[in-house]
Amino acid sequence: MDKLTPLTIAVPKGRLQSAVICLLEAASIDCSELRDPSRRLIVPVPGTKWRFLLAKPADVPTYVEYGAADLGVVGKDILLESRKDVAELLDLGFGACRLIVAVPESSGIENVKELDFNSRVATKFPVITTEYFNRQGIQAEVVELNGSVELGPIVGLADAIVDITETGTTLRENGLVPIADVARVSSRLIANRVSYKVKYATIHSLVVRLRGVLAGECSSGVEGAL
Ligand code: PRP
Repeated sequence: MDKLTPLTIAVPKGRLQSAVICLLEAASIDCSELRDPSRRLIVPVPGTKWRFLLAKPADVPTYVEYGAADLGVVGKDILLESRKDVAELLDLGFGACRLIVAVPESSGIENVKELDFNSRVATKFPVITTEYFNRQGIQAEVVELNGSVELGPIVGLADAIVDITETGTTLRENGLVPIADVARVSSRLIANRVSYKVKYATIHSLVVRLRGVLAGECSSGVEGAL
């Protein structure tokens, strides 16, 4: 690995952060500073010209598209929603969940085609949702929320939701059932298109190492985080 080439990796703060750290450490990248960043948002990789940038997950594609970061880790849901022009290099496997359409169980609806004309659909993913319903030929009103989307049908704001589900607990506890799959989601390694050309050797070498880790060629604690 060329540790003399400067490289900035955007790491999403929050639920994916520890899995990212485990994966990078398994690929022999020193994440000691990242494990304890305090309030720093730029964190160096000791002994290299590499650094991490700690970003809100939804902003990772933006930092990468504009070249503020050469690489980034982001969920496929956020990537699809962002419509940013970046290169998707690797499916990292972790953070796996489903993006689904769900309705109140009490509605008796079992298929999206049964939704009424102009049904309201609450979601954090208005772009993906609009495209999905257009593809299905269903007229729907998309209502954008920033979180706790499951509230929408409970309080009469929406007839359905499009949201991610991992364990299914949030849906169940709020009386909702999935009726359609919109997309399979997992974490992706993305690259700035120019960086990928200019720093190809360094980035490619990292991708090869990460592939090796994901294929189980490297013994480490990463499996536990995936
Ligand atoms: C996500 C998602 C669901 C929940 C699904 O929410 O939007 O609400 O997790 O997980 P489960 O199937 O394991 O129950 P998140 O925790 O990110 O919070 P948010 O709803 O405020 O965005």
